[in-house]
Amino acid sequence: MNQEDLFKNIISHSKEYGFIFQSSEIYDGLSAVYDYGQMGAELKNNLRTFWWKSMVQMHQNIVGIDASIFMHPTTWKASGHVDAFNDPLIDNKDSKKRYRADVLIEEHIAKMMGKAEKEVEKAAKRFGESFDEALYRQTNPRVLEYIEKAKAIENTFKNALELNDLEGIKQLILDCEIVCPISGTKNWTEVRQFNLMFSTQMGSVSEDANTIYLRPETAQGIFVNFLNVQKTGRMKIPFGIAQTGKAFRNEIVARQFIFRMREFEQMEMQFFVRPGTEMTWYDYWKSTRMNWHHTLGFDVKKHQFHDHLKLAHYANAACDIEFEFPFGFKELEGIHSRTDFDLKKHETYSGKKLQYFDPELNESYVPYVVETSIGLDRLFLAVLSEAYKEQILPDGSQRVVLALPFALAPIKAAVLPLVNKDGLAEKAEEIVNALKYDFVIRTEAKDAIGKRYRRHDAIGTPFCITVDYETMENQTVTIRHRDTMEQHRMPIADLKAYLDTHVSLTSLLNKLA
Ligand code: GAP
Repeated sequence: MNQEDLFKNIISHSKEYGFIFQSSEIYDGLSAVYDYGQMGAELKNNLRTFWWKSMVQMHQNIVGIDASIFMHPTTWKASGHVDAFNDPLIDNKDSKKRYRADVLIEEHIAKMMGKAEKEVEKAAKRFGESFDEALYRQTNPRVLEYIEKAKAIENTFKNALELNDLEGIKQLILDCEIVCPISGTKNWTEVRQFNLMFSTQMGSVSEDANTIYLRPETAQGIFVNFLNVQKTGRMKIPFGIAQTGKAFRNEIVARQFIFRMREFEQMEMQFFVRPGTEMTWYDYWKSTRMNWHHTLGFDVKKHQFHDHLKLAHYANAACDIEFEFPFGFKELEGIHSRTDFDLKKHETYSGKKLQYFDPELNESYVPYVVETSIGLDRLFLAVLSEAYKEQILPDGSQRVVLALPFALAPIKAAVLPLVNKDGLAEKAEEIVNALKYDFVIRTEAKDAIGKRYRRHDAIGTPFCITVDYETMENQTVTIRHRDTMEQHRMPIADLKAYLDTHVSLTSLLNKLA
């Protein structure tokens, strides 16, 4: 199956099994806004909890807060978002469709690199085992030409971005002969900057109302609370403040399901350090965060670092951890060395000192900040697309299984009476009642047992516990493993310890050590 079809199947699977619905679907939906259903909400909570525990609970020097979405409007003036949180957009005059100019160019570069890869693949097939890939890449004129062209475009693009040269960006689109995918024409408007923040009014009387913004990142809630937390928590540098919460961006190109949304959730941590040590901490958080992703147990080749071409207005180093989604490698998490930009700006705009007295140096300074910032919805999509598997079983039948890490599964175990009579359902309920305080457990008696197994495979339930006639005699059940589909018998009395060992978050957190 090609990746496009796979992605379509993942989207329809997540709707069919209650993971994700289009927002306000009965009114034909709201573009780029999604709701999490009964399964999605559990999976999302588990991901958030895993992140929170790994940041806050596992680090003595990181604490968590929960700041408001609405903030004083000056916050966004100080942070630079009012003036600089823009995307360059361009319209096609024939289709009337709007695009991000930078995305058009980046996609063109990716296409060029894709052509080079295709040449290598073709040659590998043609030459078979004797193929020397490294030599071919270094010497084949067509491969070299594609790569050279891509690099030249990338350089021109980088320069134009740095100079904020919108005419140059448009010229590059023309020079690359990029056409609108809808109209197929090169009839483009000028490139304009478009601010991504949503605004609204606070106050009941319109003349007195203040324009305020829906926060486009959670980070500023941390910066404005830096001193509150440092003083009340008696925090010593280096220390971190973590937070999860909603953020809002009026994205021009909002597509690819929950990858790019207008309302989404971020999980951010600002790590405050002594000036001059920020690059050491930047490297530390790069490897710590990559390691965190690897603990989820998916193929390590699915993640890669990508250094930013253009640094944001606040950064002196920045990279993304990219994940290979069904539509290619894309940003999953950002790691940014934000210098003292934010705290200094807030000092200037608020007139309050936001400094730390370092007892070892016997001096006060504005700390530098290294930030880790991951989108919870993107993490959800990465995990969902990696876990989704369509399998043909040895007996020729098919199943869809969500091979989620056990600790993240929405339901940890399903207790299934073999038949809905002779007290088996009541026994199943008794088991649920004993386990429900520690785990999300469900019971259901409808349909043949095989069908119920399949349904739980499809939502990623690690274990199906079956209550049969033997259970009524000797207080044992069978426990079926989602991935191997193997079953074994076990006393009911051992279930809690067994589930604890296999499905608790502790098992994932242990891997971080
Ligand atoms: N505080 C830094 C910051 O916000 P960012 O790279 O703009 O940096 C961080 O965003 C992360 O938030 C991204 O890596 C991505 O996972 C997520 N994110 C950003 N925009 C998003 C959107 N429109 N929809 C879903 N997730 C988004």
